[in-house]
Amino acid sequence: MVEQRVAMVTGANKGIGFAVAGGRLRQGIVVYLGARDTARGDQAAAELAEVGPVRSVFLDVTDAESIAAAADRIETDEGVLDILVNNAGILVQPLHPPSQTPVQDVRQTYETNVFGVIAVTNGLLPLLRKSRAARIVNLTSDLGSVAKAADDPNFPQLLAYNSSKAALNAVTVTYAKRAARPEHPRQRRIAWLCRH
Ligand SMILES: NC(=O)c1ccc[n+]([C@@H]2O[C@H](COP(=O)([O-])OP(=O)(O)OC[C@H]3O[C@@H](n4cnc5c(N)ncnc54)[C@H](OP(=O)(O)O)[C@@H]3O)[C@@H](O)[C@H]2O)c1
Repeated sequence: MVEQRVAMVTGANKGIGFAVAGGRLRQGIVVYLGARDTARGDQAAAELAEVGPVRSVFLDVTDAESIAAAADRIETDEGVLDILVNNAGILVQPLHPPSQTPVQDVRQTYETNVFGVIAVTNGLLPLLRKSRAARIVNLTSDLGSVAKAADDPNFPQLLAYNSSKAALNAVTVTYAKRAARPEHPRQRRIAWLCRH
């Protein structure tokens, strides 16, 4: 018997997350459709109900309690998570030149685009570790490219958003390398340095 895989997509009530949720449903995957507004999440799930097994779940990536509750629900209902799509992301408006960007705009952006991804990933990793082939997908952006920002004279220089996605790129590589080689000697060296 083919095992039914389970996916969680954050910020899936609209946009790219909604499309990703629909795509996974068409592949026969059970989708937990995360939304920070229950009514919008339920509405989106209702629109996808004919496509496949979709479950609306309240998930605000900046809210630790909602992350823990979502993890508990998936644990109870499925016992495993195979795919996590960290899609939720924001671009705080209005936009300002870097020198006039309120620090609060940067903090707000990082809360969702960077810290939210870390919090959701760490909250769901115990369930992902139960999968035989877990996958984590982080929605970054071309605008997070430091090389392009440095070299392209026409690059949109959005302080909060671009730097959050650049940070997310580093976060993504860090998780990927750590998961692929958990016993890498350099990790042991960093752990050793932290203790001394
Ligand atoms: N669109 C592009 O061209 C583009 C290009 C590159 C990368 N991206 C990235 O792709 C991802 C999706 O983009 P999009 O264009 O589909 O954006 P979008 O239409 O604005 O949708 C963003 C989704 O994230 C949700 N969200 C925001 N903050 C959240 C939070 N704290 N907790 C949970 N959900 C939250 C939103 O919920 P609400 O409906 O409640 O606001 C919405 O469902 C983002 O990470 C974005 O940075 C987009």
